[in-house]
Amino acid sequence: MAQPGPRPRGRLPRVPGQAGGPGELGFGLVGCGVIAQTFALALRGLEGARLVAVTDTNAAVAQRFATEHEALAVPRLDDMLSMAEVDVVCACVPSGLHAEVGLAAARAGKHVVVEKPIDVDLAAAHRLVEGARSAGVALAVISQERYNPGVRRLKSLLDSGALGTPVLVAASVPWYRPQSYYDSAAWRGTWALDGGGAFMNQGVHYADLLVWLLGAPEVVAARCATLAHDIEVEDVALAILRWGDRALGTLEVTTVAYPGLPRRLRVSGTKGTVELEDEVVVVEALAGGGQGGQPEAAGRLGMPAGHRAQLAEVVAAIREGREQPVSGEDGCHALELVLGVYATARWGPAAR
Ligand SMILES: NC(=O)c1ccc[n+]([C@@H]2O[C@H](COP(=O)([O-])OP(=O)(O)OC[C@H]3O[C@@H](n4cnc5c(N)ncnc54)[C@H](O)[C@@H]3O)[C@@H](O)[C@H]2O)c1
Repeated sequence: MAQPGPRPRGRLPRVPGQAGGPGELGFGLVGCGVIAQTFALALRGLEGARLVAVTDTNAAVAQRFATEHEALAVPRLDDMLSMAEVDVVCACVPSGLHAEVGLAAARAGKHVVVEKPIDVDLAAAHRLVEGARSAGVALAVISQERYNPGVRRLKSLLDSGALGTPVLVAASVPWYRPQSYYDSAAWRGTWALDGGGAFMNQGVHYADLLVWLLGAPEVVAARCATLAHDIEVEDVALAILRWGDRALGTLEVTTVAYPGLPRRLRVSGTKGTVELEDEVVVVEALAGGGQGGQPEAAGRLGMPAGHRAQLAEVVAAIREGREQPVSGEDGCHALELVLGVYATARWGPAAR
């Protein structure tokens, strides 16, 4: 990857800020844009972790970010990879660069956290999974919505059998992004680096939730269209899904639903229905009233609480040498569903 800027000579300076306790994992952020801010805030005060270094192709952006968060700005990824203080490298770069950054980090012996989606290319994602495995480092993919109490509640009702056999699933991500969102960075809304539109960028969260909660579905039919933005990729996507001969479902994702409405996920099983609105349980109806426990009163985890919850588990899993809660394989399954929708879709509202 081409990254401008001179390499520092000799040893890198010590990291400013807190001293770093024994056994703390040092984090490095690659890319200092919107989501890197969430990482920095999530890491602040997270036990066993501290932000050490950041890098960005835009050196001024990296320096501003480093000053704000008391970290060291380094000119290149390679400089970060040569720092002994960095144990975990987080890919906060455009989606089409996740595997490239992650693989470089894994080969340097660093644990890897990549933002969603794992990448936009499945072969690249598999190379990352294999690279992390052969280097013996952890690989985690961010999917912070899994950490919401309402989502956990639905999972436990499914896993315990309290909902019976799931038969009908309806998921909706009716979001809104103005044209200025797509114009705010050159990679947004491009096939090469965003890997798709609403379904890949915004919908991948729910693709991951569906696979996690219910297993990987088959895409029966799909439609995608670009209707309200000047972008290469879709801003409206609809998919009909099936889970073998057991269950049917729909997933609709858009960035044209002004002003942006709550996400919904409804699962009806043979013994009841649960519906989430923005990941909070709004319906929990079980036939006969029998089930185990009450819905969580807690609301939704916003930013950066969701990232903090997942990063706490990332740190614990590294410490204890166990599998990451959202693994590289999980990231591949969510990506496969998104790519399956694109491969199946007819494009445009007039398509037959
Ligand atoms: N989990 C979530 O809810 C969530 C939310 C927003 C974004 N994201 C993901 O985070 C990623 C980044 O999105 P964003 O909104 O922060 O983008 P952004 O454009 O705001 O930030 C990306 C940054 O990466 C830098 N960059 C680009 N190429 C680089 C390279 N090769 N090396 C180092 N730096 C490089 C850019 O200069 C920019 O500062 C995307 O994959 C996106 O899907 C996840």
